[in-house]
Amino acid sequence: MCGIVGYIGYRNALPVLMDGLKRLEYRGYDSAGVAYINGNGIEIKKTKGRIEDLSRILPLPAPDAKIGVGHTRWATHGAPSDRNAHPHACGGVVVVHNGIIENYRELRSRLASEGHQFASDTDTEVIPRLISSYMKGGLPLEDSIKKAVSDLRGSYALGIIGQDCPGNLYAVRNGSPLIIGVGQDEYFFASDIPAFLQFTKKFIFLEDGQMCVMSGRQARLEQLGPAVPSKTKLPDAGTEKTEPAGSPRVVEVDWTPEMAEKEGYDYFMLKEIYEQPRTVRETMREWIENPAAMLDSLGLTSKTVLGLRRLHIAACGTSYHAALVAKYIIEALAHLPVDVEIASEFRHREQLIEKNNLFISITQSGETADTLAAQREASKKGAFTLTICNVVGSTASREADSVLYTRAGPEIGVASTKAFTAQLAALCLISIVLGMKRGRLIAAEAETLTSQLKKMPSLIEKALACDKQTMDIASKIKGSRSMLYLGRGINYPIALEGALKLKEISYIHAEGYPAGEMKHGPIALIDSGMPVVVVAPVNNLFEKTLSNIEEVKARGGRVIVITDEPPGLRAMADEVIEVPSAHPALSPFLNVIPLQLLAFWSGVLNGNDVDKPRNLAKSVTVE
Ligand code: M6R
Repeated sequence: MCGIVGYIGYRNALPVLMDGLKRLEYRGYDSAGVAYINGNGIEIKKTKGRIEDLSRILPLPAPDAKIGVGHTRWATHGAPSDRNAHPHACGGVVVVHNGIIENYRELRSRLASEGHQFASDTDTEVIPRLISSYMKGGLPLEDSIKKAVSDLRGSYALGIIGQDCPGNLYAVRNGSPLIIGVGQDEYFFASDIPAFLQFTKKFIFLEDGQMCVMSGRQARLEQLGPAVPSKTKLPDAGTEKTEPAGSPRVVEVDWTPEMAEKEGYDYFMLKEIYEQPRTVRETMREWIENPAAMLDSLGLTSKTVLGLRRLHIAACGTSYHAALVAKYIIEALAHLPVDVEIASEFRHREQLIEKNNLFISITQSGETADTLAAQREASKKGAFTLTICNVVGSTASREADSVLYTRAGPEIGVASTKAFTAQLAALCLISIVLGMKRGRLIAAEAETLTSQLKKMPSLIEKALACDKQTMDIASKIKGSRSMLYLGRGINYPIALEGALKLKEISYIHAEGYPAGEMKHGPIALIDSGMPVVVVAPVNNLFEKTLSNIEEVKARGGRVIVITDEPPGLRAMADEVIEVPSAHPALSPFLNVIPLQLLAFWSGVLNGNDVDKPRNLAKSVTVE
């Protein structure tokens, strides 16, 4: 979950690396560092803290270096500190690493017995030491890298430079994301596309087990170890470039640099909340006029769909909440039982998946380790795997049998917002199509739902009008130690999502509960110091939810209600946030908006860095 970058070309490397690191800081922000080669040889600058702390210790003017690597860290092995900051070096070899070396203890003792003295507590440091130890034995740098890599177990994306080969930049991928940016007489590598979008839109997506050797003018791919069969499916989000035979496959992505900028907002999270009308529209654009065409494009035959007995979905965090919403919709529209499970649980137990079952993974990044493992597990059992994913070329998208891309654009804020509603849009479309194909959803109903879905972007726009009100409410709940979020039916996952957003951004403890379950325990917590957020749209469960509000009020609780029926609730609740009315299956799109904003403002008012909340990272590539 760290971010790594590298550059070789004609530009001054240091500003390029620093710019790339800034754009990857969402991946980890415990420490940062760079290394570059100039007339003085290799220089390394690193520090505990953020990229801006690193920029304070860099030489001015920037030294004339045309090659370098950089790192922003999310600590796994060893506390955040100067000594554990990357890059790590030994004997003129410098390495930046994202991932975990599982056998580092064993390698460390082997190297210690050869006389190596370690300067950090990281797993990473074994890598430059292994390489330099092979070089001491007489191998050139490139062969030493290959030998060292064959010693490693675990997941890694590595960037390497060496004093002996100042004209070469090396990048190795195994299990952690790594892309190569292709420029004119220059190359970049990075953990994620936004790092270098301002320089190039052309990328090579490395496969596991591949090493890319870049000089200023060319890039060469080497397969280290057995080749992993490529299942890369990229073209529907990018245009494939035809390259000479044997050259790496270069894909042009359709993201713009502006998509990864704040564009006048103070925070990425707020910008991303406001982008939702557009990102939901974009996600549906290709299919909304003819959802039935989606199945063909996903490689799902009528026979498969009709033969389905059960559908499995696995995901983490916010993506898991989208999966829970989908369960309600798919079961209602397609009469197909849906098992939804947190990916880290799914992967570690006996799965009753039968051959030809459909398995869906949902992941914004496409790199979440637990979700990838669940997808692989399902694939091993013979399931057809479909991923709903936001990042073209990500591991999930490459390994799944089929991909449905959400079109949310880069999501930089650590708290997921626009990816969630884009996932809901994709899942609604799939639900409608499954319902139609399985003969459970008649054409007229499908038509009604699709036309309601088309209105969703403009309804989200209206829901965003509660922004100022959520800021006022955030100031009233400031100082609360804990909050309860209640919802019923399809809005129960929205209560979970509201609670997750609040805790990760404001650091106020929050729990989501099915409203009907409150009386079985959480009601004991309610008093005047406990704000309770209730999601209460008008539907078949509305009156039952009203009773739950009464129960909270009777115990002195403070109720904040999200509803499309404010007049009836003003007398009961302390705060009423109005959202537009929608088809009951689509109400989650609108109810989540005030909850995202409430969390955002609570975080801001508590003085937190909402884009990079403490202890978190955007892309969780460790298990
Ligand atoms: O990239 P993914 O969708 O697989 O990420 C899953 C979770 O890590 C993610 O949703 C996380 O819970 C967010 N911080 C929630 O805001």
